[in-house]
Amino acid sequence: MTLPPEPQVSPHPTVITDPADLRAALRGHAVAFVPTMGALHEGHATLIRAARAAVPGGRVVVSVFVNPMQFGPNEDLSRYPRDLDGDRRVAGEAGADLLFHPDVPTMYPDGFSTSVSVSGVSEPLDGAARPGHFTGVATVVLKLLNLVRPDVALFGEKDWQQLAVVRRMVRDLNLPVDVRGVPTVREDSGLALSSRNAYLSADQRAQAAVLSRALRAVQAAYADGERRGAALRQAGLDVLTTAADLSLDYLSVVGSDMHEREIMDNDPMNRVLVAARMFGVRLIDNMPLAAHVAAGQSTVSPA
Ligand code: PAF
Repeated sequence: MTLPPEPQVSPHPTVITDPADLRAALRGHAVAFVPTMGALHEGHATLIRAARAAVPGGRVVVSVFVNPMQFGPNEDLSRYPRDLDGDRRVAGEAGADLLFHPDVPTMYPDGFSTSVSVSGVSEPLDGAARPGHFTGVATVVLKLLNLVRPDVALFGEKDWQQLAVVRRMVRDLNLPVDVRGVPTVREDSGLALSSRNAYLSADQRAQAAVLSRALRAVQAAYADGERRGAALRQAGLDVLTTAADLSLDYLSVVGSDMHEREIMDNDPMNRVLVAARMFGVRLIDNMPLAAHVAAGQSTVSPA
């Protein structure tokens, strides 16, 4: 007897563009949400797997929206990598059920005139280097949270300051969502995974690993007992001077409020962050000062 073929379970999540369809698909389900700008890689897949684990039997939603509001006039909005088919595959294999892919007029209709600005944590570092960036991030994240209405939302620790800004907004505005940070995924070289790595050749990626080596040098100095902020910072700068094509935005040793201190205490939320342009691409990375801080410890609220 010939058996009928097994029904094929598609690993590809359904793509939804209309917020009303999204609401209908999610009604009555526990929801975990991973907001992204697409060009999904293993770092995103890790977030999606954590989302899957957070709501067994619930729905995992990944948004793919390249948010114009968080790009400055001279930034890479028009060339930001876009690959919806690849995103469906990565998201599906990691366990996503739905991919929310709104267009710009849906998110920013004519006359859109509201923004969310989070003061304090969003001001130094990337806030200073990219004016308006975090207002764009906070505004779109609030909109996405309102559209998806998740129980849990997951963000990568690679964007440490973004995570702090989102946590502060969620706390200040009493948003009913549990924000979780997920540790950075790295190449074997130490380079943090990022959609922008797609701009780099294999050789350039290998060279860009100098950023993580600089962060590790700061960790090593901290482990040796150094607590002076300036000296910790210098340990990282000494490594960066060995890099060929690097223009530094900042290398900063900060507390949970994202501000530098003269003397660092033993707070596990202390962090070293770096942003630099290498081979024409802006890259960021960060690590806890205390190398032993457990992965995922950032679920303790920064800021
Ligand atoms: O981290 C990102 O990819 C973006 O900043 C986010 C959170 C999806 C908002 O556009």
